Amino acid sequence: MSKVIAIVGGQFGDEGKGKIVDFLSNKAGVVARYQGGNNAGHTVMVNGRKFKFHLIPSGILHNDVINIIGNGTVIDTKILSEEIKNLMNTGYEVSAKNLIISSNAHVILPRHVEEDRKTGGRIGTTTRGIGPCYADKISRKGIRMCDFVKENNDTAVFLKPFVKDAYLEINRLIDNGRNVLLEGAQGTMLDIDHGTYPYVTSSNASIGGACTGLGISPKKIDTIIGVFKAYITRVGSGTLVTELGTESLLMNEKMEDTLSEKELINANNGDEYLLGRVLRKQGHEYGTTTGRPRRCGWFDAVAARYTIIINGLDAMAITKLDVLTKLIKIKLCTAYKYNGKLIKDFPVDTSILAKCEPIYEELPGWEESISDVRNPNELPDNAKNYIKRIQEILNLPIFIVSVGADREQTLVLDNTFGFDTE
Ligand code: GDP
Ligand code: IMO
Ligand code: MG
Repeated sequence: MSKVIAIVGGQFGDEGKGKIVDFLSNKAGVVARYQGGNNAGHTVMVNGRKFKFHLIPSGILHNDVINIIGNGTVIDTKILSEEIKNLMNTGYEVSAKNLIISSNAHVILPRHVEEDRKTGGRIGTTTRGIGPCYADKISRKGIRMCDFVKENNDTAVFLKPFVKDAYLEINRLIDNGRNVLLEGAQGTMLDIDHGTYPYVTSSNASIGGACTGLGISPKKIDTIIGVFKAYITRVGSGTLVTELGTESLLMNEKMEDTLSEKELINANNGDEYLLGRVLRKQGHEYGTTTGRPRRCGWFDAVAARYTIIINGLDAMAITKLDVLTKLIKIKLCTAYKYNGKLIKDFPVDTSILAKCEPIYEELPGWEESISDVRNPNELPDNAKNYIKRIQEILNLPIFIVSVGADREQTLVLDNTFGFDTE
């Protein structure tokens, strides 16, 4: 039986959606991006080779996969053309046969980027013009791809063959029994409606965006998978309840700085700034799009439960479990304390959230590298217990555990959530 599987970010973005989409793409006929623009940076690693996608769906490295950029996205036409040409230059086939751009996706104009550069600082945006472009779309002042390709310039001429009425293509493909992956950008906690407003992006990263952003009925989606890191990260402003370390120190840090043995020892002795640094260094937590250091913290089950409700998740993929290796103790946030009271439901009032303190459960870590593990049973007991505990607290099955950036470093725990093997 064919299926439509949606992959959504369960946290604040950069959960490893690109990696999971690429991994599942070998059995997919179609991969469709439904929202966001080149604020997204999705990394795919194949045999040690790194690909960074900003707009092109992460299925593009697979032969015979049709990639769709939906109407819910916003497109910087120059950036998209470059991304296509770069892939072509690396030897990958990109043509109107395997890439479709929706006629009614909106175009990011130079003035949107300019405005974002001037005004995006408070939110800590990626300055790619995302917010101003969506604002024009909602104000009914936007320009759509169908109009852009009528222009007489090199970029318009180059992109024209890719631009089609994508709603028609995707619905036909689904109705013809193709396996389809819907690829979210950003994460539910950055969703314009459900995220930590105003510190959010300007689109619906959660599952609703998949329907409006592609023109498909919710009835067509069979499975919804949330991708979560085994800890949490955030780029830009806004509360991160379980944050370790401080932002001001973090901003002075350089990407090439390495972690010393002494820092690891002090982190394990409870130095919170260094614990954040261990996660950042071991996880290479620097933005794919802007290179900014990501703020790091412990796994937040309160926020995860919220994500599960908002998206109606069927299962989760846990990525970057390997990053926790060598930590003596790992903490899991199970509730918040607000005004002396325990709360388990995520508060949408950002001013309340800012005053919430994390309540932690502590679990023992593991020493040995898990990057080469390919069978879930071979994970160290404490790694198994950690993910089992997340599953118990969230009451949600685990579909995939990822132990490294490469396609190969992926463990499938429960095959029923993937595409059928037949
Ligand atoms: P996305 O935006 O959700 O697609 O995620 P990004 O690509 O921005 O960030 C995830 C980063 O983690 C990328 O550099 C991936 O190559 C890397 N990554 C993904 N899964 C794993 C994993 O299991 N372990 C490690 N160490 N890195 C991973
Ligand atoms: P992927 O798809 C992480 C963040 C920005 C900023 C806020 C608003 O790679 O997970 P915007 O430029 O969208 O107006 O910025 O959202 N942000 C992301 N953070 N991953 C992303 O995408 C992000 N896209 C936007 O840092 O805080
Ligand atoms: Mg990213």
